[in-house]
Amino acid sequence: MNVIIVRDYDELSKKAAQIVANEIKKKPNLVLGLATGSTPLGMYRELVKLYKKGEVDFSQVITFNLDEYVGLSPSDKNSYHYYMYENFFKHINIPQQNIHIPDGAAENIEEECRRYDEKIMKHQRIDMQVLGIGTNGHIGFNEPGDELITTTHVTKLAEETRKANARFFESLDKVPQYAITMGLGTIMKAKKILLLASGKSKAKIISELLGDESVSTKVPASFLLIHPDVTCIFDEEAASLIKGRGE
Ligand code: F6R
Repeated sequence: MNVIIVRDYDELSKKAAQIVANEIKKKPNLVLGLATGSTPLGMYRELVKLYKKGEVDFSQVITFNLDEYVGLSPSDKNSYHYYMYENFFKHINIPQQNIHIPDGAAENIEEECRRYDEKIMKHQRIDMQVLGIGTNGHIGFNEPGDELITTTHVTKLAEETRKANARFFESLDKVPQYAITMGLGTIMKAKKILLLASGKSKAKIISELLGDESVSTKVPASFLLIHPDVTCIFDEEAASLIKGRGE
């Protein structure tokens, strides 16, 4: 893992946007895997700025989002569809047909998962996958457990995840119980992975991730230790408990 530690969230966002923009310059039809949540918001803001300055062109980029809540329609303000359009897609020149997000309101959810994997497989693999990390070590919504599923599937959200995400909803009971998520196999097949973590709440899981050389389904992000091309960008707060730092 290539670990880059930056001062704060602003620097993290700029660095992440620069890395993604460079990949698009190298390969204009980049297959780009995207995350939602708080962490990548600044990266999207910076990518929009680069686009407006004419420094990056999304006209051939193909995107696949990691996940979506089951039961929320694309127009629901708490859906990841809504998040992605509001924070990113409606501000750049990506063609509508190049955008892929699982449909959490699909009538047949199992079929939707299969269809999503087929679409990814048409491109063979994701070129660069952007990831955040849950405080419990989840990536996408691959939650800790006795086993991890390789393909796109429906997952029951961990209570820790529902509580962490309740800040976006009116109340905890409004947070969906289930989500569609890309599986760990698809994530691990991505050529490159960009893992972002910001803030004190991530310090514990980041120190566990970097302090342990074993992989475990109890910490889904630990599988990134065996991926050949992972770049991590952490801000000082997220990196503050990494062993050996500041000693
Ligand atoms: C979101 C996703 C999740 C988040 C993680 C961290 O698409 O897949 O794994 O990246 O829950 O969320 P934030 O950034 O809100 O701390």
